[in-house]
Amino acid sequence: MYVGVDYYPEHWPRARWETDARLMQEAGFNVVRLAEFAWVMLEPDEGRFTFDWLDDALAVLADHGIAAILGTPTAVMPAWVARKYPETLATRDTGARITWGVRKNNCFTSGTYRLLSERITRAMATHFAATPNVIGWQTDNEFGHPKCYCATCRAEFQDWLRAKYGTLDALNAAWGLHFWGHLVGTWGEVQLPVEPGGSNPSALLDWQRFYSWLNVRFQHDQVQILRAAAPDHFITHNCMGLFSDLNYYDLAAELDHVSWDNYPVWGVPRVMGEAAAAADVMRGLKRKNFWIMEQSAGPGGWGSFGRNPWPGELRLVAYQQLAHGADGQIWFRWRTCTAGREQYWHGLLGHDGRPLRRYREAAQTAAEYHRLAPHLAGTTVHADVAFINDYASIWALQIQPGFEGNTYHAALQRYYDAFLRAGVNVDMVPPDADLSAYRIVVAADLHVLPDALAERLAAYVHGGGVLLADCRTGVKTETNLCHDRTLPGLLAAPLGITIEEYDVVPTELTYAIDGTLGACNAHQYVDWITPDGAAVLARYPDAWQLAEFAAVTRNRYGAGAGYYVGTVVQEPAFYDALIADLFATAGVTPLLTPPPGVEVSVRAGDDTTLLFLLNQTQEPKTVALPAGLRDLLAEADAGASVTLERFGVAVYALEKTPDAHHRLERTL
Ligand code: GAL
Repeated sequence: MYVGVDYYPEHWPRARWETDARLMQEAGFNVVRLAEFAWVMLEPDEGRFTFDWLDDALAVLADHGIAAILGTPTAVMPAWVARKYPETLATRDTGARITWGVRKNNCFTSGTYRLLSERITRAMATHFAATPNVIGWQTDNEFGHPKCYCATCRAEFQDWLRAKYGTLDALNAAWGLHFWGHLVGTWGEVQLPVEPGGSNPSALLDWQRFYSWLNVRFQHDQVQILRAAAPDHFITHNCMGLFSDLNYYDLAAELDHVSWDNYPVWGVPRVMGEAAAAADVMRGLKRKNFWIMEQSAGPGGWGSFGRNPWPGELRLVAYQQLAHGADGQIWFRWRTCTAGREQYWHGLLGHDGRPLRRYREAAQTAAEYHRLAPHLAGTTVHADVAFINDYASIWALQIQPGFEGNTYHAALQRYYDAFLRAGVNVDMVPPDADLSAYRIVVAADLHVLPDALAERLAAYVHGGGVLLADCRTGVKTETNLCHDRTLPGLLAAPLGITIEEYDVVPTELTYAIDGTLGACNAHQYVDWITPDGAAVLARYPDAWQLAEFAAVTRNRYGAGAGYYVGTVVQEPAFYDALIADLFATAGVTPLLTPPPGVEVSVRAGDDTTLLFLLNQTQEPKTVALPAGLRDLLAEADAGASVTLERFGVAVYALEKTPDAHHRLERTL
């Protein structure tokens, strides 16, 4: 199990390195990430490499049993790059070139920048391939640089479109360019869509796809070099959870494992639900456990800082990721920097470099992780429930939300939080995933619905699956045109409904809804749902214009069922009742029902099942436990219940015999 910190030896005098490494070792840390912003220190002039200081830092770390992940340092170009090759700097949509001096300044279509990136990557990979304590590489840092609107990007976009569509007729049709007389007669006439609120929505969606592809291509260049020069090292990238400017499935495809940077905002309860959802998205990118490459170690902020993690929170946040599939844990950062924009982005050590409370809490966590490691080996989350995580829908909704406040993640989180409260793990899967192993599939706001996907979802339900869809699902084609069918299009049969009209609910209004899921209030948006075979689970009893329409429906179709929620409900209790209904239909039994504020997650391997309980609140919480559990942190058999202290965690296992494993499954 790797546990450690992001470390910047270049920020501190050499005389301090030994102390840092010793304190890390004493904390139980065995890995650091290094050098992702150190390009100019590694190549101070073009083609002149100075790796000696990093060799020395690595040697000091090695003496203390600490391994290293090196960053390809291309997220910050040296000043000499900007001076010698100004075309490497990105251009804003106003046409003005970015001024060098922050980070992520580069244009991804600049051939010069790509060559410079390849050169530093090759030089580093060749030099450090044989360094014993280097174990892997992080490509760049948090891809998701600002878009560039230079002439080269425009020409490459035109080429990319030509490769994708083949003919101008196909492009004109795919983008619906007959509207406003925007038909193009040459590829050169295609402009970059610079007005998010006014440009053609289909052009904007492809522009986003192109931008994502540019990042993936840039990474691909580095990956090829790293694989050839350092074949024994792993390659990863520090993604950003629910950040969605890039198609992370594409970015992850070439990596050995995904890593991500988790910066929960301390003290904001909803953030923990988002961090759990993000962890599931990250695990879903490769259907594989992931690493945390950066995790808040203290108050963060570039100007003002947020609240300090209170005692127990650093540990709780780490355990939440462990429970959702983290196999490595790295805190950002080791020591709070005294210079630069991140002086207030606090690390485990303060500016004074002394090992105080946050250091001790991280050290406690590390010690526990090392004790848990043999149990964790080979385990991951196995879920009966899949959420479709679709970047095309995320982007199309950013371009046109349809109704105010409608974002893909807001919709996803409404349902996700209900599963979290019920203590049921979910997988986040791409739209082309095989769904057959799942009992429930949630397609929240699956706005872009190509016919092939609609047909697969219909077949999934027909074959016995339970599908949950909601408002604005299936409105758009793959190229962001509206489907020319009555909603919900090809999902009409599995859902047993038709929707001829829909309406927004003005901000100051709500509509009461009532039915078998309890009395609640709808806001933001309503579909005018006509059941066509579906049972009505909720109606709008008080709104005369909605009298004949359903709010929520359930339809038997083949061997399965299709649910539809045609509005946004204010009360979380509605979503709890809804998923209880789904569980009954799908035959899903939660392992245990946690009290409010306690998160449950399960990791299992061939002969191990680990149950994690996480108290996200500041009060003690008592949880009734099934029989036969062993408390791995207390190293004792568990009783009939446990009381978790504020921010407390517990990890249980059943003895590792296959028999006992099956017994646990039966008991639970
Ligand atoms: C991350 C980034 C780090 C550091 C941190 C705090 O997004 O990867 O380099 O900047 O945020 O701001």
